[in-house]
Amino acid sequence: MKGLVLSGGKGTRLRPITYTSAKQLVPVANKPVLFRVIEAIRDAGITEIGIVIGDTGDEIRAAVGNGKRWGMKVTYIPQEAPLGLAHAVKISQDFIGDDRFVMFLGDNCIQGGISPLIEGFGRSAYNAQIVLKKVEDPRSFGVAELEEDGRIARLVEKPREPRSDLALVGIYMFDHHIFEAVNAIRPSARGELEITDAIQWLVTAGYSVYPYVHEGWWIDTGKKDDLLEANRLVLEELQPAVQGYVDRDSQLIGKVIIETGAEVINSTIRGPAIIGEKTRILNSYVGPFTSIYHNCLIEDSEIEHSIVMEHCSIRGIPHRIEDSLIGRNVEVSRSPLKPKAYRLVIGDNSNVGVL
Ligand code: G1P
Repeated sequence: MKGLVLSGGKGTRLRPITYTSAKQLVPVANKPVLFRVIEAIRDAGITEIGIVIGDTGDEIRAAVGNGKRWGMKVTYIPQEAPLGLAHAVKISQDFIGDDRFVMFLGDNCIQGGISPLIEGFGRSAYNAQIVLKKVEDPRSFGVAELEEDGRIARLVEKPREPRSDLALVGIYMFDHHIFEAVNAIRPSARGELEITDAIQWLVTAGYSVYPYVHEGWWIDTGKKDDLLEANRLVLEELQPAVQGYVDRDSQLIGKVIIETGAEVINSTIRGPAIIGEKTRILNSYVGPFTSIYHNCLIEDSEIEHSIVMEHCSIRGIPHRIEDSLIGRNVEVSRSPLKPKAYRLVIGDNSNVGVL
């Protein structure tokens, strides 16, 4: 069995972070979402993956490399434009050949336990398997209607009036018949070849498509609040560990992970929280559901329920920072200059809330 990971797309809902970096590389509990996807595929016993890349391809290549780190062989498949998930399958036919495969969207974050399902599909006789999850508002997803006996009745992409609350999770398992489907369907109203339409085509053509309803959590990390929620859920599952230095004037409360080379001085960290490699926390408070990535400095400040990416410095901020997603190389500091004023250098489409 092979793996196909989709890591193209423009990430428009995550601007300005995605002007300079791929959305799949935003760290959740200090590990890029894409790495979590690769690990879920590896845990299913798969050693060969193809990664479909777009505009941010160079950055994805630099981060993932040849896959050796995971014991995997990685092939990159460039997609000239984001023409849909089914289009991504189409251009991957040479890589997949006649193998069965799992396709995983590189921005989907899912609670563990999915790897045995993927492994099982490799041995099964189904033509396809889809993963469904009950959600409150299914309108921004593919939606599945099931028959009373559990078989798939109909799949519709982003229906205005959904007839079920079962969303299609971005994890799909196929055999080679999917290539017939992606070649038969036409672009949708948004101009894309939809994977949902291709799977519907398989159902209509009489192929066996098996639905699996996932009970754990699942987050499509398209927006800031989704990322913060995924961060919260993953942090809650981690085991505490201290690999860095914590001085005697500091306090770690609850589940806290201090990564190698990190330093916590005269500070309180209330978990679940993670402090990245070589990051320094000085005279500060880091509250629950916070991930501070590598090589950051937090000094004389308070932060909670936030993700801070690498090489940031936050110093002397008089009010607690909350519900924030802070990109790379960002500096947030209190200015001694008079007159007292906010002095900002902020990229396009940023969102700043001041007191
Ligand atoms: C895509 C699929 C949709 C699926 C979703 C899962 O949506 O088209 O059917 O439910 O991924 O993340 P998109 O992220 O392209 O809007």
